[in-house]
Amino acid sequence: MKMFRAGIIGAGFIGAVHAEQLRRLGNVEVAALTNTSNAEQKAEALFIPKGYKDYREMIDQENLDCVHICTPNSSHFEIAEYALNHGIHVVLEKPMTTSVEEAEKLVKLVKEKNLVGAMNYNCRFYPMAFQLREMIKNGDLGEIFTIHGGYLQDWLLLETDYSWRLEPSLSGETRAFGDIGTHWLDLVEFTTGLKVAEVLADFEIFHKTRKKPLKAIETFSGMALRPEDYEEVPIATEDYITVLFHLDNGAHACCNISQVFAGRKNQMILAVAGSKASAHWDSEDSNDLWIGRRETSNDLYAKDPSILAPRTGKVISYPGGHVEGFADTFKHNFKQIYAAIAGEKAEYDFPTFESGLREMVLCEKIIQSAREKRWITVP
Ligand SMILES: NC(=O)c1ccc[n+]([C@@H]2O[C@H](COP(=O)([O-])OP(=O)(O)OC[C@H]3O[C@@H](n4cnc5c(N)ncnc54)[C@H](O)[C@@H]3O)[C@@H](O)[C@H]2O)c1
Repeated sequence: MKMFRAGIIGAGFIGAVHAEQLRRLGNVEVAALTNTSNAEQKAEALFIPKGYKDYREMIDQENLDCVHICTPNSSHFEIAEYALNHGIHVVLEKPMTTSVEEAEKLVKLVKEKNLVGAMNYNCRFYPMAFQLREMIKNGDLGEIFTIHGGYLQDWLLLETDYSWRLEPSLSGETRAFGDIGTHWLDLVEFTTGLKVAEVLADFEIFHKTRKKPLKAIETFSGMALRPEDYEEVPIATEDYITVLFHLDNGAHACCNISQVFAGRKNQMILAVAGSKASAHWDSEDSNDLWIGRRETSNDLYAKDPSILAPRTGKVISYPGGHVEGFADTFKHNFKQIYAAIAGEKAEYDFPTFESGLREMVLCEKIIQSAREKRWITVP
């Protein structure tokens, strides 16, 4: 069995999850990481042999097969371009880039180099969301009429909450939608097989200014600071966004995306209503899938490979009753990606650079719609 050598670029919140879940595959050695600050300490903490300050140095020296880019969004393009030009496969965190043009360039480059370019839209691999996809494909819900739901968090509720995600130069033109809304929309198109045709969006910045910490912090660690540690800065990206969608089969959809919804830590809801049955899935209760029926009793499916669709069984690691969640979705996405890197046909549709570009186009149209206050057609 060939062992692959992977490098993690950006060892903050999500870089650590990549390192941990790659190890569960068994055929990937996490050989090195890059982080702009404290690289050696970060490597030591994650039991990774080498820590670099500059990704170029790591790529030039480590003979890697693949890099996982887990840095703030604005650096995704230049790092991915460098890796691909050095013949290295790329797994890129979402959102893909900060512009459609950059995303298009990466799609073109990965094809020219004949390498694997994958995105980490990991929510595709929540088993019960995957089960919903299998049921829709099988016609169990009938014709899809409506889709609703969204993604709610509260970690930016207070004006003292701060992150690089609040700075468009690092995060891009959209914040709430680019950061979490794209997870929801990728999942909508993945589970239903439908494509968004038109969008109408409305957003709000509730904190027009925020208090920025005077010292650097990483994601979800802001609560430790005191009032005197902040400066007041203007905010240009949305705390909240709601979007109406028309899908290519005539279905209607809507979502609420918010990073200022007290008490909801990280909740994605996907509800689909069809001509035969409806379904409701909640990421904070991710091991269940509710199926609603008109003429017989409703069902609550449990994450148990012995009772689900055979294909769903393959994205489950443990027997029923043994809860699986966020980290497991990374493992299953990476399993498909490394099968493709090994030259095998991946069994399941993992998110590719094309999926990343699709989300960038959707973000562009959604922001245009919110600014111009009108429906916008999606190509
Ligand atoms: N798929 C998911 O569920 C998920 C969840 C969270 C974050 N993300 C994405 O992952 C990326 C990182 O987010 P995070 O929450 O881990 O951020 P973070 O701030 O916790 O970590 C980012 C790390 O990258 C380092 N860094 C910055 N620029 C760098 C560079 N040029 N080279 C090397 N290291 C650099 C920083 O020092 C920091 O340690 C973002 O694109 C984000 O959207 C995805």
